Amino acid sequence: MRILITGGSGFIGSKLAKRLAKKNKILIFDIKKNKNFKNNKNIKTYLIDLSNKKKLMNIKIKNIDVLLHCAGQPSQAVSFKRTDLDYESNIVSTYNLINWSKENKVKKIIYASTFNVYKETIDKSGKLSEISECDPKSPYALSKYTAEKYVQICCNIFNIKWNILRMFNVYGPGQNPKNPDLGMVSIFLNMARNQDVVNIKGSLDRFRDLVYVEDVLDAWEMCAKDTKHFNQIFNVGSGKATKISDLLKVISKVLNKKIVINELPGTPGDFKGSSANINKIKNKLKFKPSTKLVDGVTNFNNWLNTLD
Ligand SMILES: NC(=O)c1ccc[n+]([C@@H]2O[C@H](COP(=O)([O-])OP(=O)(O)OC[C@H]3O[C@@H](n4cnc5c(N)ncnc54)[C@H](O)[C@@H]3O)[C@@H](O)[C@H]2O)c1
Repeated sequence: MRILITGGSGFIGSKLAKRLAKKNKILIFDIKKNKNFKNNKNIKTYLIDLSNKKKLMNIKIKNIDVLLHCAGQPSQAVSFKRTDLDYESNIVSTYNLINWSKENKVKKIIYASTFNVYKETIDKSGKLSEISECDPKSPYALSKYTAEKYVQICCNIFNIKWNILRMFNVYGPGQNPKNPDLGMVSIFLNMARNQDVVNIKGSLDRFRDLVYVEDVLDAWEMCAKDTKHFNQIFNVGSGKATKISDLLKVISKVLNKKIVINELPGTPGDFKGSSANINKIKNKLKFKPSTKLVDGVTNFNNWLNTLD
């Protein structure tokens, strides 16, 4: 397959590129280069800001079987400080890319969306399924939801197949340890490694669906290869709810270190609880997340050790 990955220099996109390049030709659209791909003959990177329609339309590439659209502003916290980034990188870029896909006859687009598009459920389990109501509460969630709608409606008009993957809290090796605004596991693990006190914005009773990046890549790969279940939305999560207090216990165990916690006011728009109902993706794409939290955090920590 010829696969185009936007955001292919970022966390999820670069891991997808590396994995899929073993058997496929990979093209990347990103604002920045990933130095790890310098000598990979199966990966070619185009430096492009997707919000620049004119420059994007000048790129002509035919025979793309599937486009994995991972580029974007990925942080809810950042979206409150810089609403322009979400608008440009999530909404405008997605609109431009769909039009580019039409011109270049892309067969299928898979969009990297998020659980943040859902309305927070009053159900104590926090379980969200693909038919749960959506009600974005942050500029980030709004931009991702708007981009989802552009993908669905315009791809239908242009006769491009589509899927939307609503990912929950993804974590694992490759996540930028220096980014204080993205990735709950990454933020807490890095604080616990480097500081005496771990600052937690929001209650310790909040819970999340923490899904290991290699499991997430399985979902993307299955969806990219699938020929039957196009034009559908899938949740991508572990299917398990983990309380923040329990995550901290796991981090403490992995680091073999007592963690001192400092509770701070929460981030606006943050859910009290969310966890994925993953029955649909399990049944239709045979997705089977298998990484236990303690193993995922151990792998993540081992990878961080290699950076020291
Ligand atoms: N990480 C998560 O837990 C998570 C959860 C749900 C959804 N998502 C979504 O998955 C996608 C990837 O997330 P990530 O964690 O890998 O983020 P990331 O920041 O590591 O990667 C995003 C990539 O997109 C590129 N990019 C941003 N704006 C661009 C533009 N205008 N033109 C070209 N390239 C641009 C960046 O340079 C970067 O390489 C995002 O769309 C995010 O919203 C992530």
